[in-house]
Amino acid sequence: MNGLTILGTGSYTPPFALTNKMLETIVDTDSEWIKLRTGILSRAIAAESETTLSMATAAAQKALDGLDRSKIGAVIAATITPDYLTPSLSCLLQRDLGLPTDIAAIDINCACSGFVMAMKTAHTLLADMPGRTALIIGAEMLSRVTDYTDRATCVLFGDGAGAAVIRRDAAGTFASDCGAVGNAELLSCRAQYLCNNPFMPRPRDAEPGAIAMNGQEVFRFAIETCSESVKRTLTRACAEVDSVNHFIFHQANRRIIDGIVRKLGITPEKCVINIENHGNTSSATCAVALDDLFRSGKVNAGNRIVMAAFGGGLTYASAYFTQSEEIKYND
Ligand code: ACO
Repeated sequence: MNGLTILGTGSYTPPFALTNKMLETIVDTDSEWIKLRTGILSRAIAAESETTLSMATAAAQKALDGLDRSKIGAVIAATITPDYLTPSLSCLLQRDLGLPTDIAAIDINCACSGFVMAMKTAHTLLADMPGRTALIIGAEMLSRVTDYTDRATCVLFGDGAGAAVIRRDAAGTFASDCGAVGNAELLSCRAQYLCNNPFMPRPRDAEPGAIAMNGQEVFRFAIETCSESVKRTLTRACAEVDSVNHFIFHQANRRIIDGIVRKLGITPEKCVINIENHGNTSSATCAVALDDLFRSGKVNAGNRIVMAAFGGGLTYASAYFTQSEEIKYND
């Protein structure tokens, strides 16, 4: 029972598209620079009425379509932009999706590596839940924590959610790798608290939280750690790069994906690329790309799939699995 297979996928991105041209009107940037340096043309931004929960619910409803919800044994939501510190996003999804109550409901804060970590965690949890499945989600409203006066970050981020239902699989193979190099200097987003204790001075971290990043350093970290992590995962799976049918890399910057592809000697056509119209949606990018891949009809029974991501923490994670069956979508 070491393998893992996907039973359903879904995604949701808000209808409002913030284009590069629109960004030119609010910060000192230009469309061509953004396109050339990142591969991004536009990003989806949530409306006032939307929440991380509403986007996650929409994605999860699609992933659960036609599946037995009573079999769900774990719901694992990856997010750095939950609506509440408590209750967690996963607990609210249990409620809104009508999932069983005898389940593990866990949020994961691994930034962009979160969805891959959710898959790895779910695979472990399902080991002692025979017959059960897991719902894994990556959902982010990064527009909440983006500083739209900082041209070095505001051109990158977008909002969205993706989800998948998985089960352990006797026949297939699952292998994974992950790591963390704690660092709040290169990439961070400070938590916001009320801080109105009249007996203490107002601390520095009462200021609004926004993503701050040293782009060049994160760029280097991303290519190096992601490539090495994929190599370790493939070794554990006893698989070669060439035997993999589909690669899904975190969609942070087209040039980072190209760098990993070159380093690992991957056929570029095997990579899912959707960064043009989504931008970087942190934990949601791999989840949305997985949904795009499955709905494209390109995944056949027996296909080998690799997902890999890097991000805040700093963290990285990769996973390999063999898909045992094709998924039929009704929509
Ligand atoms: N428009 C125009 N010029 C810009 C912009 C902009 N939006 N942003 C920066 N520049 C300028 C800089 O000021 C600099 O100008 P200078 O040479 O006159 O000083 C020049 O462009 C080059 O800047 P760099 O920072 O070297 O640009 P780079 O090519 O590295 O691209 C980028 C920046 C896109 C941020 C890149 O470094 C990157 O993608 N890094 C990785 C980010 C990432 O993957 N984050 C993932 C984690 S996110 C998370 O976990 C939530």
